[in-house]
Amino acid sequence: MKQRKIGELEVSSIGMGCMGMSSAYGGLEEKEAIYILHQAVELGINFFDTAEVYGPFANEQLLQKAFKDYKDIFIATKFGFQLDPSKEGIKQVCGLDSHPKNIRKVAEESLKRLGRETIDLFYQHRVDPTIPIEDVVGTMADLIYEGKIQHIGLCEVSANTLRKAHAVHPITAVQSEYSLWSREAEQKILPTCTALNIGFVPYSPLGRGFLTGQLQIENLGENDFRKNLPRFQKTAVEQNHYLIQQLEQISQFYHCSNAQLALAWMLHKYAHLVPIPGIRRINHLQDNIAASDITIEQEHILKIDEIFLPEHIAGERYNEQELQMIDI
Ligand SMILES: NC(=O)c1ccc[n+]([C@@H]2O[C@H](COP(=O)([O-])OP(=O)(O)OC[C@H]3O[C@@H](n4cnc5c(N)ncnc54)[C@H](OP(=O)(O)O)[C@@H]3O)[C@@H](O)[C@H]2O)c1
Repeated sequence: MKQRKIGELEVSSIGMGCMGMSSAYGGLEEKEAIYILHQAVELGINFFDTAEVYGPFANEQLLQKAFKDYKDIFIATKFGFQLDPSKEGIKQVCGLDSHPKNIRKVAEESLKRLGRETIDLFYQHRVDPTIPIEDVVGTMADLIYEGKIQHIGLCEVSANTLRKAHAVHPITAVQSEYSLWSREAEQKILPTCTALNIGFVPYSPLGRGFLTGQLQIENLGENDFRKNLPRFQKTAVEQNHYLIQQLEQISQFYHCSNAQLALAWMLHKYAHLVPIPGIRRINHLQDNIAASDITIEQEHILKIDEIFLPEHIAGERYNEQELQMIDI
């Protein structure tokens, strides 16, 4: 697969989001997950995304089992949530915590869980308004000097905070939600990343599956995280379905899937961008990888931009509580 640069890091032009293998979307049997992760490497993916909070912990442990003998892959992980061990699963998340002490603790523990000598890319998962970003990045820079991490990333950060952070130590990548139906990043953060030579890693690039046109909302499991999101409520789904039908017409023109078109659209728009679609099935893996070879005519890029204008989208991407954790 072609490679792309995010900051100074060179990785496959499509990465892989591993969250859904252990949390949020129902998980996967370990053996199957490891098989898919190995196939991903076989097919050219070398950039894998995880976090302390996915499981919690289970997703990092899964990557250790899958990749203990693999050298030439990059694993990105994240710190930044306060966890209450007396609770189960995702209910452990009880706030934000970017105190330097916690950043160091998570780095040490993630290294052990991943079974690696260094973390290739370490992201702050959410900006913690109680800790100055300069202190957060200063602590991460110290971890670089100590060899514990290689690169610094920030998630869902505002352009303002990003500039302050980058002045302390070069930031390699910003990871924020970005897809056809979540285009807020186009306003400020993508231009800022371009100006500062910072890579951009869109999470949920397939709209958590909705944009593929294949997701059956009524079949989502009881604990599926998407059930809490405004865009996955019945009325919003019905209204947004029209957008998918229009996307399908363009996909048919290119003889590709909606997922491929959604990924090719963003790859075409920004050179320093590497999407990390969430994958739990081998056919989805193959489909997404092939997106890196699709060329879309500029007239279709503009047409897709127009179909998915923010005012055409029904429902917010997160609920009120989750939106409050986004740095604006
Ligand atoms: N920084 C953050 O705050 C944050 C937040 C959310 C996610 N993330 C990261 O971003 C990654 C991706 O996010 P996401 O999982 O929400 O992303 P997504 O790629 O937008 O959606 C994943 C969904 O799309 C389906 N899918 C994938 N490829 C497909 C294809 N070719 N055709 C049809 N369906 C397809 C998946 O199905 P299957 O699962 O059945 O394959 C899954 O249901 C996560 O794994 C995580 O690493 C980060």
